[in-house]
Amino acid sequence: MNEKSVNTVWHRPTVTRVRREKQNGHRSVITWFTGLSGSGKSTLAHAVEEELHRRGIRTFVFDGDNVRHGLCGDLGFSEEDRTENIRRIGQMAKLFIESGTIALTAFISPYQVDRQRVRRIVDYDEDFLEIYCECPLEVCESRDVKGLYQRARKGEISDFTGISSPYEEPENADLTVNTSMLNLDQCVEKVIGLLESRGVISSF
Ligand code: ADX
Repeated sequence: MNEKSVNTVWHRPTVTRVRREKQNGHRSVITWFTGLSGSGKSTLAHAVEEELHRRGIRTFVFDGDNVRHGLCGDLGFSEEDRTENIRRIGQMAKLFIESGTIALTAFISPYQVDRQRVRRIVDYDEDFLEIYCECPLEVCESRDVKGLYQRARKGEISDFTGISSPYEEPENADLTVNTSMLNLDQCVEKVIGLLESRGVISSF
């Protein structure tokens, strides 16, 4: 608990996660997409969500750019701010697990230690699935969907991941999808396959 949040008492809900999961007909989990900017995290998370939604599964996507417009709008891209960004999202995603929802998060989350911290705060090891969107920097940079790489190269954006700020590749990802080699449907299939093989959702 944060030292400033003293004198608070945890209230145990009667409508529990287990009851919600039972009602939903599927388990809840965090699917944590990590990778460089432009590696396809958000695209893949939303495409997986489409497929899950079609199957009647409760989902929600947290996207780095969107969350930074609101909840994390006060944070920049220093190591400290990114750590706080991931901490907040981790805690938020944990609440979504309690709500019985599959939370799909799409954040660069460049530091191994920050991702591991999220894995540690969930109740069960199987609640957190780390999915690495592997894509060479050259490919992300050539896509440059938002034009940010070009600006970072010109020195207009500091601490840019892959250019002037590090990205630590996952060492033990639950799944690695090579988004430069596979098409979107193939990537979606791999993620759905992971959810089925881990018993989060049932296969049709
Ligand atoms: S994280 O490192 O803290 O996980 P997050 O995923 O929330 O990053 O935000 C990344 C998005 O912010 C990128 O996709 C990009 O659009 C934008 N962005 C702006 N400045 C930077 C920067 N310096 N480094 C990386 N991404 C940046």
